[in-house]
Amino acid sequence: MIWLIGSNGMLGTEIARELKENSVDFIGTDIDVDITNIDALRSFAKGKVIDWIINCAAYTAVDKAESDEVLADKLNNTAPGNIAKVAKESGAKLIHISTDYVFDGTGNTPRTEEMPVAPLGVYGVTKAKGEKSVISNTDEYYILRTAWLYSWHGKNFVYTMIRAMNTHDAVKVVSDQRGTPTFGPTLANIILKIINQNSTLENKNSHDEIPSKPSVPYGIYHCTDEGETTWFEFTKEIKRQAVELGLVTNKDCTVNPCTTEEYPTPAKRPAYSVLSKAKIQNALNIRLPQWQDSLSEFLKSGLFEKDRIM
Ligand SMILES: NC(=O)c1ccc[n+]([C@@H]2O[C@H](COP(=O)([O-])OP(=O)(O)OC[C@H]3O[C@@H](n4cnc5c(N)ncnc54)[C@H](OP(=O)(O)O)[C@@H]3O)[C@@H](O)[C@H]2O)c1
Repeated sequence: MIWLIGSNGMLGTEIARELKENSVDFIGTDIDVDITNIDALRSFAKGKVIDWIINCAAYTAVDKAESDEVLADKLNNTAPGNIAKVAKESGAKLIHISTDYVFDGTGNTPRTEEMPVAPLGVYGVTKAKGEKSVISNTDEYYILRTAWLYSWHGKNFVYTMIRAMNTHDAVKVVSDQRGTPTFGPTLANIILKIINQNSTLENKNSHDEIPSKPSVPYGIYHCTDEGETTWFEFTKEIKRQAVELGLVTNKDCTVNPCTTEEYPTPAKRPAYSVLSKAKIQNALNIRLPQWQDSLSEFLKSGLFEKDRIM
């Protein structure tokens, strides 16, 4: 059985949907099982045969984290350590989600998994510490670093921009931060593939078996859509596609670039955080979708929540 933690969040909702669609047995928990409380996690796991834990719960408010360090650290650092401990005690493999914000944004070539982390803000610092907490508490882990995530459920940049275009004559977007927008299903599919390729789900009924060598090696993997862009270029592409689909009715709205300096935020963000996906693509023998194609899938789907763009 799979235990999906953070199942009501943006990514968690998407993974739950994909698991259901593929008829994979899972239980989702969210705030009802507090990940900062190891006893709550242990008591939930007690008596259950858990093969996989997927952790999507986190403190994700990047700017708010700057003035809320204690809670951010509890959720992003202590809690993944708790979950890793419980995974080990339960004989479960752990898939934990991390972020491109563990990097400082210097350089101009895609970041590989081996490159040193050097986060700029509290969110990145606590997520980087959380990776270490996972690694030091279990050997059977996959840490998947993703970036610029959006999906149908919940607030996200794409909904926000379309709504802004429909209600304003101009929007200003930063043009000096490069990264890769990532559609939830891209990551959910990777997770499903890791589980399918490594799974002993069907025939596992005891926890004291000797762990077999996984067909996808444990470790850190970078998982985003393919390609790279800036928030400004991303917004222009959102406008182009959304106008075509009739989702942006105010066609005259202009999208203007600005610098990070002109649009200061409490948290510093990496200027360049494109991640190299070679490792995950080789491990799973897959090709990841281009971010523009994923955007199109997002906008065209019946799951697109139109009330969020009015
Ligand atoms: N969003 C992005 O752009 C992005 C980019 C890179 C990496 N990531 C990573 O991707 C993962 C998923 O992100 P997301 O955007 O899907 O996050 P999200 O929408 O904020 O979901 C996080 C979930 O965790 C729950 N949660 C909070 N405190 C909890 C607690 N003490 N115990 C149990 N559950 C708790 C939240 O509940 P409440 O809502 O009730 O608090 C929420 O449902 C995170 O690890 C994040 O760091 C996200």
